[in-house]
Amino acid sequence: MNHPVHRLAAAWQLRLVSILLVALVASKGKVDEEALEQQAPAYTAPTPGVCSERCYDIATCNEELGGRCDCPKTLSGSECHQKATKESLQTYGQSTVKEAKDPLPCLNDCNGRGTCVYGACVCTRGNFTSDCSVSLGPDTQQPVVLAGSGYEARRKRPLIYVYDIPHKLSSWHNVMRADRGLAWVFWQRLLGAGVLTTNGDEADWFYIPVKLRSTSDGYSLKDAVSYIRSHWPWFERYGGNRHFVLHSGDTGRGEVTGAIREDATLANITWLHHWGLTEDYPSSGWRKAHRVGKDVVVPIYLGVRKSAGLLPLSGLHPLAPRIPRNGTFLFSGRICGDHSLPDPEKPWPHCATRRSPGYSQGARQLVHFHHSQRPGYKVMVKNKEYQVDLINYKWCLAPSGGGHGHRQVLVAAMGCLPVVVSDLVMQPFEPEMDWSAFSLRVEQKDVPTLHEAIEAVDEHKYEEMQDALRCAAQHMIFSTMSGAFMQEDGKWDAFGFVLEILRMQQGHPGLHPSKYAEVDEQYRDFLNCGDPDGMASYGRKLRETQLAKYPTAPSLSKDPEKPMDWSDVYRKATAGFKKLVDAHRLPAEGSEPEPPLPLCSMSLWDPEQVRCSKVGHRERVHHSYIPGGAACVMHKNLAECPRLWE
Ligand SMILES: *[C@@H]1O[C@H](CO)[C@@H](O)[C@H](O)[C@H]1NC(C)=O
Ligand SMILES: *[C@@H]1O[C@H](CO)[C@@H](O)[C@H](O)[C@H]1NC(C)=O
Ligand SMILES: *[C@@H]1O[C@H](CO)[C@@H](O)[C@H](O)[C@H]1NC(C)=O
Repeated sequence: MNHPVHRLAAAWQLRLVSILLVALVASKGKVDEEALEQQAPAYTAPTPGVCSERCYDIATCNEELGGRCDCPKTLSGSECHQKATKESLQTYGQSTVKEAKDPLPCLNDCNGRGTCVYGACVCTRGNFTSDCSVSLGPDTQQPVVLAGSGYEARRKRPLIYVYDIPHKLSSWHNVMRADRGLAWVFWQRLLGAGVLTTNGDEADWFYIPVKLRSTSDGYSLKDAVSYIRSHWPWFERYGGNRHFVLHSGDTGRGEVTGAIREDATLANITWLHHWGLTEDYPSSGWRKAHRVGKDVVVPIYLGVRKSAGLLPLSGLHPLAPRIPRNGTFLFSGRICGDHSLPDPEKPWPHCATRRSPGYSQGARQLVHFHHSQRPGYKVMVKNKEYQVDLINYKWCLAPSGGGHGHRQVLVAAMGCLPVVVSDLVMQPFEPEMDWSAFSLRVEQKDVPTLHEAIEAVDEHKYEEMQDALRCAAQHMIFSTMSGAFMQEDGKWDAFGFVLEILRMQQGHPGLHPSKYAEVDEQYRDFLNCGDPDGMASYGRKLRETQLAKYPTAPSLSKDPEKPMDWSDVYRKATAGFKKLVDAHRLPAEGSEPEPPLPLCSMSLWDPEQVRCSKVGHRERVHHSYIPGGAACVMHKNLAECPRLWE
């Protein structure tokens, strides 16, 4: 039976069967299309099957789905017999010239089981899905992850099944052009973290990896779901519950057209998005987007690229300057909806025109109007000292923008306590996490007295909030994907938090998320970064540990009698940050070499050799999409990534 001729004959038989099946399905196609609108599409479990030799030669064959031939981006047609049009290539990929110069990355580098063509995997025979991670077990014909690599799903729940929907809808978009790359890194991380399962019957959650960024993408979701309903049983089984999508647009679920948002079939899908607006907000033209307990507000992905290089200088890092924060309140960024520079000489709202007053719910204009002249307050559009300011100021404004902002995440991770002015908008992981532990929320109507709310926080309380922030900030950064920013190990990162919340939603349907910690010990442990006495207690102990590890903070000053102060830091920073960082790195005399860090680091305060962008043997480490996530940077086989969070 192992003789090649026999094998070929067997393959031919299978192929004949699959051709017959295709014909059968095709003849039913018309009827099905009408029925689709009326009722659930007929679901028949696809029989595993093979593809034509031509498909195996030039494309990917999903054998689990009875031999679906997934063409490379350069070809089209059911057997990939046509050349893709130039337009189509540009829609999904890029020009041939650019591809030759700087090829697009592929999801998880195709796991070494395929070739990357214009950013889409063409898998070796037997392997399929967008990153070639799945194949059928030779004896069982059941799908397995990374066959022969020793991959085992992690013990901790939830386990997640990822639908291999047509790649045009999921993995074909040009990730290097994506302004918010969370969906991509999240998908990669599922495998690296051992969360991925190919057994839908044991899965807790189902990920629909449809690309959702712009308004029209909503229709792709509808297409994806009808495809899913006709190919797999689980959407029907759970009534669309336990299924989630990831939307990275400005106004999240509120951004897709009403027809999609109100479609009953799609109503039970959980949206992971960045926008937590819980009511309509007509003055800004926004619609209610977020359903507490159903959807999850997730932080945006701040890789090195997305944080404009700020995150690598976080003040929460144990080697950041140890000078007490001295400035009071900071905001730096666009203030006027019309992009003009605000002018205090002008009447409210200080802007050139009254266009787009709903920008940021008017919060930035209001804060500028009332506080830009206050001593210790810095509220401006362009700020050359922003990097140092973020580690010097005590409080930082976290408003919305044209939808979700990114400042609440950025300033928190820099160690500046967020002052949230964003009425009716849930912040990342709110209410799953108690934001009052490390931030102030000021309602729009109270902005004129914002400074009083700040003054009301005494020094002791401020320290306590700073300590809580050391835990909360880790929750808001996807460090197992991007690398560490404060020498954390990634155990409490945003990816882990998303999983914890999904687990709670599944196990406690209907329970208000602010109560999760009361009923579930594992959740409480995660929320408080493992400290039974809470977030602030964790932060206090962490500070003590770090002081013991680095008893003397590196200093710019050679004279121990005259420690470095902020003016030194500002001076160095304007002369180029590199000088400050280099000065910091002078090793203390006779000091031991640094022990290796648990995660590769994106921080500039850490020594060169542990940077995520420097280590590892992967070819494309210069972009911020490390296969499997930063936790996997040393491992080519993603089944071997360390999992200290099991
Ligand atoms: C998958 O790809 C690997 C590497 O190219 C190859 O060795 C293997 O035979 C392929 N098929 C299966 C079923 O794993
Ligand atoms: C949505 O979920 C609810 C609660 O489980 C269920 O009663 C309802 O039928 C589901 N909707 C659809 C369209 O399946
Ligand atoms: C702290 O800030 C005040 C006012 O902004 C300034 O006068 C003072 O020099 C600063 N102190 C240090 C140590 O930087």
